[in-house]
Amino acid sequence: MKQPSVAFDTRREQEARQARVEEVLAGLREDPPRISPIWFYDRRGSLLFEKICELPEYYPTRTELGIMRVHAADMAALLGPRVALVEPGSGASLKTRLLLDALDRPAAYVPVDISGGHLMDAARALRQDYPSLRVEPVCADFTRPFSLPAAPLRATRRRIVYFPGSTIGNFPRDEAIELLARLRGIAGEDGALLLGVDRVKPKAVMERAYDDAAGVTAEFNLNALLHLNRELGTDFDPSAFGHRAPWVAEHSRIEMHLVARRDTTFSLDGESFGLARGDYLLTEYSHKYTLEDATAKAAAAGLTLRRAWSDPNEWFSVLLFEPA
Ligand SMILES: C[S@@+](CC[C@H](N)C(=O)[O-])C[C@H]1O[C@@H](n2cnc3c(N)ncnc32)[C@H](O)[C@@H]1O
Repeated sequence: MKQPSVAFDTRREQEARQARVEEVLAGLREDPPRISPIWFYDRRGSLLFEKICELPEYYPTRTELGIMRVHAADMAALLGPRVALVEPGSGASLKTRLLLDALDRPAAYVPVDISGGHLMDAARALRQDYPSLRVEPVCADFTRPFSLPAAPLRATRRRIVYFPGSTIGNFPRDEAIELLARLRGIAGEDGALLLGVDRVKPKAVMERAYDDAAGVTAEFNLNALLHLNRELGTDFDPSAFGHRAPWVAEHSRIEMHLVARRDTTFSLDGESFGLARGDYLLTEYSHKYTLEDATAKAAAAGLTLRRAWSDPNEWFSVLLFEPA
């Protein structure tokens, strides 16, 4: 009995790996070539992101945490008792703790993240600190269909999708609408979406946040190449690349680039690519929103704004949406 199941798993794994290879190849063939931001996140990448969150230049985490500290009780009152929280891209679940502390007897928490080891560490710590909370981590790519554990969600009064960190900003605006519609589907007709969005602000503040003096964001960006080399067998030479994070006003977004310091080549699955000095790989978008734009995108996804909470500078907002 055992052998066929192992063979099946191996075949499934090979198919999943091949699908990843095809996706990465498709990105590398684009102009400019692109690497999905999911490749930032292995265990090292997740830890580097936590370091970024503590940098003096990186205002988003600090600002959103500030909003949660001041307004989590207000949010919890609107969400109601015994809710289940589903959090796509949960990372260290840091902001979640402020929400959990304010909620009235939260019943379940389902963190969803692609960085499996880091996800399990965060879930273990949460189980310890919230013994009455059912914590059911799901290791998945939230941009693809994934299954949620049914039992803990059935037993709860209302399902809340918590999507902080302005992760929505990583998606081009049309894809953001699609993703918001999927999150609305996960929340269901009686549910809600609590969304963190980074607002448009002075260019220098935004550019510094993604290109810090200590070089941690540069390391995080380059980690995508190390991850790809290890996981898919590409042969990027990380020393051939430098980090850059320009504000692109036309699209209202920061772009993260890996710029070739010299002519360089790399290959995947027998296909070769080259970059001339000064050319770049595009690794991440961070779109910045106005409140009007965020509300319009959510409306296009069938969501109505119920409340908005912002910091005094209006640099970041946490928005509560319900199905229209
Ligand atoms: C910018 S961090 C935000 C973490 C946390 N939500 C916060 O607000 O601090 C993004 C997180 O999403 C995860 N992630 C990114 N893309 C993902 C995807 N497509 N599917 C699942 N997880 C993803 C990363 O592993 C990382 O933990």
